[in-house]
Amino acid sequence: MNDSIIRTQDLRFAYPDTEAGGPSVLNGVNLDIEEGSFVAVLGHNGSGKSTLAKHMNAILLPSGGAVYVSGMDTRDESKLLDIRRTVGMVFQNPDNQIVANVVEEDVAFAPENLGVPSEEIRRRVDEALKAVGMYEFRTHAPHLLSGGQKQRVAIAGVIAMAPRCIVLDEPTAMLDPVGRREVLDTIRELNRTSGVTVVLITHHMDEAAQADRLVVMSKGKVVADGAPREVFQRVEELKSYGLTVPETTELLWELRQEDGLDVPLDALSDEECAQVLYDLLTAV
Ligand SMILES: Nc1ncnc2c1ncn2[C@@H]1O[C@H](COP(=O)(O)OP(=O)(O)OP(=O)(O)O)[C@@H](O)[C@H]1O
Ligand SMILES: [Mg+2]
Repeated sequence: MNDSIIRTQDLRFAYPDTEAGGPSVLNGVNLDIEEGSFVAVLGHNGSGKSTLAKHMNAILLPSGGAVYVSGMDTRDESKLLDIRRTVGMVFQNPDNQIVANVVEEDVAFAPENLGVPSEEIRRRVDEALKAVGMYEFRTHAPHLLSGGQKQRVAIAGVIAMAPRCIVLDEPTAMLDPVGRREVLDTIRELNRTSGVTVVLITHHMDEAAQADRLVVMSKGKVVADGAPREVFQRVEELKSYGLTVPETTELLWELRQEDGLDVPLDALSDEECAQVLYDLLTAV
């Protein structure tokens, strides 16, 4: 498939530092991430999400099967730089991702390392900072920013490398609700306006609900894959993987379970859910 930016083929992985190869962490993951899509990955702690993410830009290499980034086999060492240019990674803790004392220098760091010419760097840094809404902070000290602002600077640093895909591993986990919203809006905007492919690993159902596609991991396998609206209707199955569902789905599900009411489970947004409840109350 040519339009897959990332493809994993029967991907298997065990961390080598555990005894006798250790228990398998990824047990045959087959995924095709379509270029331009916004994919969320959910899964209980230890289900293998971060391990999978690290295979998407060759931080980890498969023990079995294969991973292709824009057709390049991640085991091909000669392609490493190309792979890292194609897929950028953003991690949980923004403090660990800041390397300079001035915001714009921080954002320039990665493209400088890639040998991008200086005028081009200037242009990319400005554009990246504008894209995350941090341009006016370009001469500020990163460590004085809020968590959400720092994470947006970290995202700008990745954007400045002009990747076609960004993989974010719980980028909002350490942020307050305002920071979470800022970061999520930024990610969505990047996907929509610049067509950057986004893979978002998250524990937040409301974040996952905003993606085009939701992949659920359990014990190193993909156990559900589809539009969030469809996947979230599989309430009992998701609970069996140690997950919850969005509050809207949970409420509707309980109305069905406990009160036997004939309400749809796919009213995912607050507005849709409110409409269902309104219709229910005004129907009597
Ligand atoms: N560096 C490592 N060495 C050995 N085992 C590891 C290492 N990193 C993770 N593991 C193990 O691999 C399994 C999957 O871990 P991973 O971090 O991929 O899960 P996760 O889904 O990202 O979890 P979380 O939701 O907690 O972030 C876990 O059992 C974990 O203990
Ligand atoms: Mg993780």
